[in-house]
Amino acid sequence: MALFSDQACWLSSSPSNVAALKAATYFRTKFVARAKAVSAVLRFSGLGVVEPWLNGEPVSDDFFTPGWSDYRKRAYVCEYEVSDTLQTGENCLGMVLADGWAGAPFGPKGHAVAFAPQTKFLVELALTYEDGSVQTVASNADWLCRTGPVIKQSIYHGETYDARKELKQWSHAHAPGRGWKPVLCVEAPSIKLNLKKCPPVRITEARSPIELRKVQQKWIVDFGQNLVGTLRIQLRNTKPGQKIVLKYAEMLQADGALYLENLRNAIATDVYICKGAAEEIYMPRFTFHGYRYAEIEGLRSALRAEDVSACVLHNDLKQTGKFSCSDPLINQLQSNIVWGQRGNFLEAPTDCPQRDERLGWSGDAQVFVDTACFNYDCEGFYRQWMDAMRDGQRADGAFPDTAPDILGWHGNAGWGDAGIIVPHAVWQHYGSLEIVEENWQAMERYMSFLEKRANNYIQPSSVYGDWLAVDAARPEWSPTPKELIGTAYFAHSAKLMARMAAAMGKDVRATHFEELCKSICSAFQENFITRAGLVLGDTQTSYLLALAFDLVPDALVEAAGNRLVACIEARNWHLSTGFLGTPLLNPVLSKVARGDVAYRLLKQESYPSWLYPIKNGATTMWERWNSWTEEKGFGPVEMNSFNHYAYGAIGEWLYQRVCGIAPHPDYPGYERAVLAPLPGGGMSRGGGSLDTRVGTFVSKWQVKGSKFIFNFIIPEGAEAVLRLPAAKWSQIQLDGRSVPTKFKQQTSSNYVKCQLLLPAGKYQIEIKHYLAH
Ligand code: BGC
Repeated sequence: MALFSDQACWLSSSPSNVAALKAATYFRTKFVARAKAVSAVLRFSGLGVVEPWLNGEPVSDDFFTPGWSDYRKRAYVCEYEVSDTLQTGENCLGMVLADGWAGAPFGPKGHAVAFAPQTKFLVELALTYEDGSVQTVASNADWLCRTGPVIKQSIYHGETYDARKELKQWSHAHAPGRGWKPVLCVEAPSIKLNLKKCPPVRITEARSPIELRKVQQKWIVDFGQNLVGTLRIQLRNTKPGQKIVLKYAEMLQADGALYLENLRNAIATDVYICKGAAEEIYMPRFTFHGYRYAEIEGLRSALRAEDVSACVLHNDLKQTGKFSCSDPLINQLQSNIVWGQRGNFLEAPTDCPQRDERLGWSGDAQVFVDTACFNYDCEGFYRQWMDAMRDGQRADGAFPDTAPDILGWHGNAGWGDAGIIVPHAVWQHYGSLEIVEENWQAMERYMSFLEKRANNYIQPSSVYGDWLAVDAARPEWSPTPKELIGTAYFAHSAKLMARMAAAMGKDVRATHFEELCKSICSAFQENFITRAGLVLGDTQTSYLLALAFDLVPDALVEAAGNRLVACIEARNWHLSTGFLGTPLLNPVLSKVARGDVAYRLLKQESYPSWLYPIKNGATTMWERWNSWTEEKGFGPVEMNSFNHYAYGAIGEWLYQRVCGIAPHPDYPGYERAVLAPLPGGGMSRGGGSLDTRVGTFVSKWQVKGSKFIFNFIIPEGAEAVLRLPAAKWSQIQLDGRSVPTKFKQQTSSNYVKCQLLLPAGKYQIEIKHYLAH
């Protein structure tokens, strides 16, 4: 169904102009509503950021509508019901148009692309009256436009707002007409227009400062949390033309000044030029910043804490998971992971939110997808992002390294595979095959790209490797062989394809991918694994990939697991992994019954470890293990974000094993969950809850001496497999009695002795002498 009638045409204010830091444009039309409308649906789309106004008010509090897409192929459509704001008689519909991700070069220096150098929009308002008649107000040649107070706007560089240029009541029915010019009715882009698939970006929290400090004439405000968003400031007793300059940083330098080097070419500065009043309020709307600290210059009176707040922005997804345990540092880690997700879930899963990058890197996205789906309901968000993956897919089937595809780089191992891994994970968490169906053709094309590229099932080396591994002299120089990485991911993608094909009833394709996976596995074993279970490269990541993706022959799993532990011990119980190895560490260690080592790594406080940044004050996940060290201070400046979620992928294991709630691979959507809490690491309690499509699971465990007590809820309509840390059934009591035989399950695992299948209900399990890890 067409989302717009023929009456709506695309409007712009000027011809193509790729320059950054242009003014935003205000558009408007006046119209008469002949009676009270029973419904009034406003729909718009745009290449750029478009904000609708009606009768002097913004239509919503949403930011950056209609959102980010590969504008060369697609734009989203937003829809609002606005009958409450309409008046019988004269009305005025206004639209503000800014560059967003479209109108100015976006991307790192030398690689930036302006997807739509001529920003434009189309809008249609359909009023339905009581008698069923419909009146349409649409963007057309009769509209007028002009510039206003937003004299510069850019996501990377910030906004300049000259309040003296404010257009009084510009979207009011009786607004003055001076200075308004005709619009350009421009050619409609030949792209897809789709309704937006996920909730828009909104302010989800406003935070007050924890400290204000005046240094010379500038105020440094500390919000106590590294976050992403905009800033709201209230100014008092201002003079016309007085200039307030706002700068943002994630860290401070040793002398207390903002650390700005890691922003690279992002100017990240907002400027407010006062009109002069007893009180003025400013909050930039066409930019966002990654910051904990703000520097405010140009005030004439002392700043008060209540004058400023940090407004947190991200796609307004529903929080679904909660996790906590007895260790405050691990709880802080969980908080940092969640903040990393909030900060980087802004219209695409981005690598970072602060420097001249903020791109939807696919490798980062795939390592974090499971963690993300525990924390928030991400189904719509990833469905939207997969549109960009498909739109950026190369003719030969390679998926892009960043989506939307700004860079034009494709097909790197662990990055392109996101095109398979993300739909699979989303299906696992939410149970709906929609995302799989939408992407099936594209996934098939990617697999044939991999098949063609392989040489006897071995993938050639690709660029990133185990990105940012500890000690690598350059980010892409990890010691894990790149052919091994590519081939391991090839096998993994083939396995997930087989599973998805089977679920869709595509049996022939399922068999094809199973066979393919087997052949890759044999080639992997022949080329990369010795008879003693050593894996080529002999790095932590080599073992992790081989074990995680089931590429090690059964008889050698123990040897490979032991060697993995030896590699960790050789570093005095520290990890040495990068983006691809790190998420696999704890899942693999607990899979080979070395939960003790998993906990040892998790609780490691010295460099490199998850807790090292936390011991040094981190409130979000850092990009590099050495983003900052006591020894060397700030890490390499060309790439050093303090809000990169990739290493937060440990969150998946925190939910699965420390909280103890996980999806069952054969029952997507938690119809049957896996409850497998793993006591260890000296923790006395753990647990949490997870809202799923079938209801809320709750888990709460504690350790008292040798006793393990586990209280949990399986929601109505679901069941759960329990894998318990017990050696014998006689150790276990279910609700105060021995476990009825009907609940006991055989396991094929060497490591799990006691497994139950329980229907919905509220239970308590007690294990007299639990198996410590
Ligand atoms: C990004 C990473 C990304 C990488 C790959 C970096 O600039 O920040 O997260 O995956 O490039 O090259």
